[in-house]
Amino acid sequence: MKLSGKIVILTGASQGIGKAAAYKFAQAGCKVALVARSAKMLTEIVKDIGENHALAIPADVSQKEDCKKIVEKTIEHYGKVDVLINNAGVGLYQPMESVLLSDINTVMNVNFIGVIQLSQAVIPKMRTHGGGLIINVASIIGKRGFPNMGIYCASKAALERMTESWRVEQEKDNIRFSMCYPGITQTNFQKNTLGIPPTDQFNQLAGVSAERVAWQIVQTARRESRDAYVTLFDKMFILGTKHVPHLFDMIFRRYS
Ligand SMILES: NC(=O)c1ccc[n+]([C@@H]2O[C@H](COP(=O)([O-])OP(=O)(O)OC[C@H]3O[C@@H](n4cnc5c(N)ncnc54)[C@H](OP(=O)(O)O)[C@@H]3O)[C@@H](O)[C@H]2O)c1
Repeated sequence: MKLSGKIVILTGASQGIGKAAAYKFAQAGCKVALVARSAKMLTEIVKDIGENHALAIPADVSQKEDCKKIVEKTIEHYGKVDVLINNAGVGLYQPMESVLLSDINTVMNVNFIGVIQLSQAVIPKMRTHGGGLIINVASIIGKRGFPNMGIYCASKAALERMTESWRVEQEKDNIRFSMCYPGITQTNFQKNTLGIPPTDQFNQLAGVSAERVAWQIVQTARRESRDAYVTLFDKMFILGTKHVPHLFDMIFRRYS
Protein backbone atom coordinates (compact mmCIF):
# COMPACT_ATOMS: atom_id res chain seq x y z
CA MET A 1 0.00 0.00 0.00
CA LYS A 2 1.26 3.47 -0.81
CA LEU A 3 1.12 5.15 2.59
CA SER A 4 1.11 8.82 1.66
CA GLY A 5 -2.28 10.39 2.42
CA LYS A 6 -3.65 7.30 4.15
CA ILE A 7 -5.77 7.58 7.31
CA VAL A 8 -4.43 5.35 10.10
CA ILE A 9 -6.05 4.52 13.46
CA LEU A 10 -3.31 3.47 15.87
CA THR A 11 -4.14 2.10 19.31
CA GLY A 12 -1.77 2.08 22.26
CA ALA A 13 -0.24 5.28 20.89
CA SER A 14 0.54 7.06 24.16
CA GLN A 15 3.87 5.28 24.75
CA GLY A 16 6.20 2.52 23.64
CA ILE A 17 5.81 0.91 20.24
CA GLY A 18 2.56 2.77 19.43
CA LYS A 19 4.07 6.17 20.17
CA ALA A 20 7.10 5.41 17.98
CA ALA A 21 4.78 4.18 15.23
CA ALA A 22 2.72 7.40 15.39
CA TYR A 23 5.79 9.44 14.38
CA LYS A 24 6.82 6.96 11.70
CA PHE A 25 3.38 6.83 10.05
CA ALA A 26 3.20 10.64 10.12
CA GLN A 27 6.68 10.82 8.52
CA ALA A 28 5.42 8.45 5.83
CA GLY A 29 2.72 11.03 4.98
CA CYS A 30 -0.21 9.41 6.80
CA LYS A 31 -2.78 11.18 8.94
CA VAL A 32 -3.01 9.40 12.27
CA ALA A 33 -5.80 9.00 14.84
CA LEU A 34 -4.03 8.16 18.09
CA VAL A 35 -5.85 6.07 20.69
CA ALA A 36 -4.99 5.34 24.35
CA ARG A 37 -6.51 6.14 27.74
CA SER A 38 -3.95 8.83 28.67
CA ALA A 39 -5.32 12.00 27.07
CA LYS A 40 -2.41 14.14 28.23
CA MET A 41 0.26 11.93 26.66
CA LEU A 42 -1.67 11.77 23.38
CA THR A 43 -2.10 15.56 23.28
CA GLU A 44 1.67 16.04 23.62
CA ILE A 45 2.31 13.71 20.70
CA VAL A 46 -0.32 15.45 18.54
CA LYS A 47 1.30 18.82 19.33
CA ASP A 48 4.66 17.41 18.30
CA ILE A 49 3.48 15.81 15.05
CA GLY A 50 1.20 18.73 14.17
CA GLU A 51 -2.58 19.02 14.33
CA ASN A 52 -2.93 18.72 10.55
CA HIS A 53 -1.53 15.21 10.66
CA ALA A 54 -2.57 13.83 14.04
CA LEU A 55 -5.69 13.56 16.16
CA ALA A 56 -5.89 12.42 19.80
CA ILE A 57 -8.77 10.12 20.71
CA PRO A 58 -8.62 9.24 24.42
CA ALA A 59 -10.45 5.93 24.73
CA ASP A 60 -10.38 2.51 26.33
CA VAL A 61 -10.36 -0.22 23.67
CA SER A 62 -11.87 -2.72 26.10
CA GLN A 63 -15.10 -0.66 26.09
CA LYS A 64 -17.46 -1.27 23.17
CA GLU A 65 -18.87 2.28 23.22
CA ASP A 66 -15.32 3.70 23.15
CA CYS A 67 -14.52 1.59 20.09
CA LYS A 68 -17.54 3.01 18.27
CA LYS A 69 -16.47 6.51 19.32
CA ILE A 70 -12.92 5.97 18.00
CA VAL A 71 -14.26 5.18 14.53
CA GLU A 72 -16.89 7.96 14.58
CA LYS A 73 -14.36 10.61 15.59
CA THR A 74 -11.87 9.47 12.95
CA ILE A 75 -14.51 9.57 10.19
CA GLU A 76 -15.80 12.94 11.43
CA HIS A 77 -12.26 14.38 11.31
CA TYR A 78 -10.67 12.65 8.32
CA GLY A 79 -13.66 11.26 6.35
CA LYS A 80 -12.49 7.63 6.14
CA VAL A 81 -10.20 4.95 7.62
CA ASP A 82 -7.64 3.14 5.46
CA VAL A 83 -5.60 1.32 8.11
CA LEU A 84 -6.32 0.11 11.65
CA ILE A 85 -3.38 -0.92 13.83
CA ASN A 86 -4.46 -2.87 16.90
CA ASN A 87 -1.36 -2.31 19.01
CA ALA A 88 -2.77 -1.54 22.50
CA GLY A 89 -1.83 -4.34 24.84
CA VAL A 90 -1.19 -5.27 28.44
CA GLY A 91 0.99 -8.01 29.92
CA LEU A 92 0.35 -10.31 32.89
CA TYR A 93 3.15 -12.00 34.83
CA GLN A 94 1.84 -14.45 37.42
CA PRO A 95 2.16 -18.19 38.04
CA MET A 96 -0.98 -19.92 36.79
CA GLU A 97 -1.99 -21.19 40.24
CA SER A 98 -2.45 -17.72 41.65
CA VAL A 99 -3.56 -15.74 38.61
CA LEU A 100 -6.58 -13.55 39.37
CA LEU A 101 -9.74 -13.70 37.29
CA SER A 102 -9.86 -9.88 37.28
CA ASP A 103 -6.38 -9.76 35.68
CA ILE A 104 -7.31 -12.46 33.14
CA ASN A 105 -10.37 -10.38 32.21
CA THR A 106 -8.31 -7.21 31.80
CA VAL A 107 -5.75 -8.90 29.55
CA MET A 108 -8.33 -10.64 27.39
CA ASN A 109 -10.53 -7.53 27.22
CA VAL A 110 -7.68 -5.33 25.96
CA ASN A 111 -5.55 -7.75 23.90
CA PHE A 112 -8.33 -9.80 22.32
CA ILE A 113 -11.90 -8.52 22.84
CA GLY A 114 -10.73 -4.92 22.26
CA VAL A 115 -9.36 -5.92 18.86
CA ILE A 116 -12.66 -7.60 17.99
CA GLN A 117 -14.76 -4.60 19.05
CA LEU A 118 -12.66 -2.00 17.27
CA SER A 119 -12.36 -4.12 14.11
CA GLN A 120 -16.13 -4.69 14.08
CA ALA A 121 -16.67 -0.94 14.31
CA VAL A 122 -14.17 -0.11 11.56
CA ILE A 123 -14.82 -2.82 8.95
CA PRO A 124 -18.21 -1.46 7.70
CA LYS A 125 -16.60 1.99 7.20
CA MET A 126 -13.61 0.49 5.34
CA ARG A 127 -15.99 -1.52 3.16
CA THR A 128 -17.85 1.68 2.17
CA HIS A 129 -14.56 3.05 0.83
CA GLY A 130 -13.56 -0.09 -1.07
CA GLY A 131 -11.54 -1.87 1.63
CA GLY A 132 -8.75 -1.40 4.11
CA LEU A 133 -5.92 -2.98 6.04
CA ILE A 134 -5.95 -4.19 9.67
CA ILE A 135 -2.62 -4.95 11.36
CA ASN A 136 -2.78 -6.86 14.63
CA VAL A 137 0.24 -6.67 16.91
CA ALA A 138 0.79 -10.03 18.63
CA SER A 139 4.04 -11.37 20.11
CA ILE A 140 6.55 -14.16 19.51
CA ILE A 141 5.38 -15.61 22.83
CA GLY A 142 1.90 -15.97 21.37
CA LYS A 143 3.59 -18.74 19.33
CA ARG A 144 5.08 -20.49 22.35
CA GLY A 145 4.03 -20.21 26.00
CA PHE A 146 6.48 -18.52 28.35
CA PRO A 147 6.55 -19.39 32.10
CA ASN A 148 4.35 -17.15 34.26
CA MET A 149 2.92 -15.44 31.18
CA GLY A 150 0.43 -18.10 30.05
CA ILE A 151 -2.59 -15.77 29.98
CA TYR A 152 -0.79 -13.08 27.98
CA CYS A 153 0.57 -15.73 25.56
CA ALA A 154 -2.93 -17.17 25.19
CA SER A 155 -4.39 -13.71 24.41
CA LYS A 156 -1.88 -13.24 21.58
CA ALA A 157 -2.36 -16.80 20.28
CA ALA A 158 -6.13 -16.17 20.23
CA LEU A 159 -5.51 -13.00 18.24
CA GLU A 160 -3.53 -14.95 15.68
CA ARG A 161 -6.19 -17.64 15.19
CA MET A 162 -8.91 -15.01 14.90
CA THR A 163 -6.92 -13.02 12.34
CA GLU A 164 -6.46 -16.13 10.17
CA SER A 165 -10.23 -16.69 10.19
CA TRP A 166 -11.12 -13.08 9.48
CA ARG A 167 -8.58 -12.80 6.63
CA VAL A 168 -10.47 -15.38 4.59
CA GLU A 169 -13.95 -14.18 5.64
CA GLN A 170 -13.26 -10.59 4.71
CA GLU A 171 -11.21 -10.90 1.51
CA LYS A 172 -14.29 -10.58 -0.71
CA ASP A 173 -14.71 -7.03 0.62
CA ASN A 174 -11.01 -6.20 0.23
CA ILE A 175 -10.43 -6.02 3.99
CA ARG A 176 -6.87 -7.29 4.38
CA PHE A 177 -5.16 -8.49 7.57
CA SER A 178 -1.53 -8.58 8.65
CA MET A 179 0.06 -9.79 11.86
CA CYS A 180 3.21 -8.40 13.44
CA TYR A 181 5.08 -10.46 16.06
CA PRO A 182 7.55 -8.39 18.08
CA GLY A 183 10.01 -10.03 20.45
CA ILE A 184 11.29 -8.32 23.58
CA THR A 185 11.17 -4.57 23.07
CA GLN A 186 12.55 -1.81 25.29
CA THR A 187 9.37 -0.06 26.44
CA ASN A 188 7.49 0.33 29.73
CA PHE A 189 5.62 -2.87 28.89
CA GLN A 190 7.17 -4.82 31.78
CA LYS A 191 6.53 -1.93 34.19
CA ASN A 192 2.91 -1.77 33.01
CA THR A 193 2.50 -5.56 33.24
CA LEU A 194 -0.12 -6.81 35.72
CA GLY A 195 0.60 -9.44 38.37
CA ILE A 196 3.82 -9.91 40.33
CA PRO A 197 7.18 -8.29 39.47
CA PRO A 198 9.00 -10.47 36.90
CA THR A 199 12.17 -12.30 37.99
CA ASP A 200 15.58 -10.63 37.61
CA GLN A 201 16.49 -13.11 34.86
CA PHE A 202 13.39 -12.04 32.94
CA ASN A 203 14.09 -8.34 33.45
CA GLN A 204 17.63 -8.80 32.14
CA LEU A 205 16.45 -10.02 28.73
CA ALA A 206 17.67 -7.48 26.18
CA GLY A 207 15.34 -6.20 23.51
CA VAL A 208 15.19 -4.03 20.44
CA SER A 209 14.08 -0.40 20.48
CA ALA A 210 10.46 0.64 20.09
CA GLU A 211 11.53 2.54 16.95
CA ARG A 212 12.80 -0.67 15.36
CA VAL A 213 9.45 -2.40 15.95
CA ALA A 214 7.55 0.68 14.80
CA TRP A 215 9.57 0.70 11.56
CA GLN A 216 8.60 -2.95 11.03
CA ILE A 217 4.92 -2.10 11.51
CA VAL A 218 5.19 0.66 8.91
CA GLN A 219 6.90 -1.79 6.52
CA THR A 220 4.13 -4.29 7.21
CA ALA A 221 1.58 -1.67 6.14
CA ARG A 222 3.59 -0.87 2.98
CA ARG A 223 4.10 -4.49 1.99
CA GLU A 224 0.85 -5.81 3.47
CA SER A 225 2.85 -8.82 4.64
CA ARG A 226 0.79 -11.65 6.03
CA ASP A 227 3.15 -12.22 9.00
CA ALA A 228 5.92 -9.84 9.99
CA TYR A 229 8.83 -10.44 12.36
CA VAL A 230 11.23 -7.84 13.64
CA THR A 231 14.55 -9.70 13.95
CA LEU A 232 16.18 -12.85 12.65
CA PHE A 233 16.42 -14.00 16.29
CA ASP A 234 12.60 -13.80 16.56
CA LYS A 235 12.20 -15.96 13.44
CA MET A 236 14.73 -18.50 14.73
CA PHE A 237 12.95 -18.52 18.11
CA ILE A 238 9.66 -19.46 16.47
CA LEU A 239 11.27 -22.13 14.27
CA GLY A 240 13.16 -23.52 17.25
CA THR A 241 10.17 -23.69 19.57
CA LYS A 242 8.25 -25.54 16.85
CA HIS A 243 10.93 -28.10 15.99
CA VAL A 244 12.77 -28.59 19.32
CA PRO A 245 10.17 -27.74 21.98
CA HIS A 246 11.98 -29.75 24.69
CA LEU A 247 15.09 -27.63 24.27
CA PHE A 248 12.99 -24.53 24.88
CA ASP A 249 11.39 -26.11 27.97
CA MET A 250 14.94 -26.42 29.27
CA ILE A 251 15.91 -22.86 28.33
CA PHE A 252 12.70 -21.40 29.79
CA ARG A 253 13.16 -23.24 33.10
CA ARG A 254 15.62 -20.59 34.22
CA TYR A 255 12.92 -17.92 33.80
CA SER A 256 10.25 -19.71 35.83
N1 LIG B 1 7.42 -4.58 24.79
C1 LIG B 1 7.52 -5.84 24.46
O1 LIG B 1 8.51 -6.53 24.85
C2 LIG B 1 6.51 -6.48 23.53
C3 LIG B 1 6.86 -7.72 22.94
C4 LIG B 1 5.94 -8.31 22.09
C5 LIG B 1 4.73 -7.72 21.84
N2 LIG B 1 4.41 -6.51 22.43
C6 LIG B 1 3.10 -5.96 22.13
O2 LIG B 1 3.28 -4.68 21.54
C7 LIG B 1 2.17 -3.85 21.86
C8 LIG B 1 2.67 -2.52 22.42
O3 LIG B 1 3.42 -2.80 23.59
P1 LIG B 1 4.44 -1.76 24.25
O4 LIG B 1 5.70 -2.50 24.51
O5 LIG B 1 4.46 -0.51 23.48
O6 LIG B 1 3.71 -1.57 25.67
P2 LIG B 1 3.50 -0.23 26.58
O7 LIG B 1 4.71 0.62 26.48
O8 LIG B 1 3.08 -0.74 27.91
O9 LIG B 1 2.31 0.52 25.85
C9 LIG B 1 1.02 -0.04 25.84
C10 LIG B 1 0.07 0.91 25.15
O10 LIG B 1 -1.24 0.35 25.17
C11 LIG B 1 -2.15 1.31 25.69
N3 LIG B 1 -3.27 0.67 26.37
C12 LIG B 1 -3.24 -0.22 27.39
N4 LIG B 1 -4.48 -0.54 27.76
C13 LIG B 1 -5.32 0.16 26.96
C14 LIG B 1 -6.72 0.26 26.87
N5 LIG B 1 -7.55 -0.43 27.68
N6 LIG B 1 -7.26 1.08 25.93
C15 LIG B 1 -6.46 1.80 25.11
N7 LIG B 1 -5.12 1.73 25.13
C16 LIG B 1 -4.56 0.93 26.06
C17 LIG B 1 -1.31 2.16 26.65
O11 LIG B 1 -1.85 3.45 26.82
P3 LIG B 1 -2.72 3.93 28.10
O12 LIG B 1 -2.13 3.30 29.30
O13 LIG B 1 -2.59 5.41 28.02
O14 LIG B 1 -4.11 3.48 27.82
C18 LIG B 1 0.00 2.26 25.85
O15 LIG B 1 -0.09 3.30 24.91
C19 LIG B 1 1.30 -4.62 22.84
O16 LIG B 1 0.23 -5.22 22.16
C20 LIG B 1 2.24 -5.68 23.37
O17 LIG B 1 1.54 -6.83 23.78
C21 LIG B 1 5.28 -5.88 23.27
